[in-house]
Amino acid sequence: MTRVVWLADIHLDLASAKAIDAFLEALVASEPDAVLIGGDIAEQGLNEHLMQIAMRAEVPVYFVLGNHDYYGKHIADVRAEVRYLCAEVPILHWLPEAGVVPLTEETALLGHGAWSDGRYGDYMGSGVLLNDYVSIRDLRPLDQGERWGRIKSLADEAALYLQDTLPSALRQYKQVVLLTHSPPFREATWYMNEIPDWDDPYLPHFSCKAVGDVLLDMMPRFPQTHLIVLCGHTHSGGRVQMLDNLEVLTGAAEYGQPAIQHVFQLA
Ligand SMILES: [Fe+2]
Ligand SMILES: [Fe+2]
Repeated sequence: MTRVVWLADIHLDLASAKAIDAFLEALVASEPDAVLIGGDIAEQGLNEHLMQIAMRAEVPVYFVLGNHDYYGKHIADVRAEVRYLCAEVPILHWLPEAGVVPLTEETALLGHGAWSDGRYGDYMGSGVLLNDYVSIRDLRPLDQGERWGRIKSLADEAALYLQDTLPSALRQYKQVVLLTHSPPFREATWYMNEIPDWDDPYLPHFSCKAVGDVLLDMMPRFPQTHLIVLCGHTHSGGRVQMLDNLEVLTGAAEYGQPAIQHVFQLA
């Protein structure tokens, strides 16, 4: 049995030293064989927090980045820093670089942080201005239309990555776990324990249709394989079955209270 521990939206820079210590204690006590971190790890001190988790867990740590992980910086710089860190710390793995990772004989893991792309709902009419749009250096100078272009291209990067990488995993394994940050479907964009309506102004900023479209197109072609998507970003938990072989779990989270989301026991 392989124990895989999933963490979502832990936002460690917003937690007290005491809360982080209790969280790391709980992580060690869960006896993981591998740890999955679904982004929004820390706005500040990202690499230090990743190191802290790896050193305490002492097992492979696989992660994707969320929007908050880029705050105060340029996207390319954050990615270069985590790439460098992973080269230095062999048990740390940034999933877009790691590709398809076997977790057991039957189950593989892959992941990409993706990006909420404003394609569900009415982006231009939503009136919502996320902190992302002022805190991430690449987005700050852009007007609303330019920003939409940029976030769509960030989401399309994830969609292309999955188009390239996912088929080989689906062909070889009975089960595939896809770790991501933005929910890929409106139905997985749980917020305040509800699925948002199409006209919810937050929906365009909380979901990644580019990835959802890839999954809906691809999964019917691999009916023998089950795909579990693990996402977060909305901080409200839920589960939805999108197709017979495609389920999506959205992680719940509270700022300042990092916690284990779920422990999977894989045969
Ligand atoms: Fe978050
Ligand atoms: Fe997020």
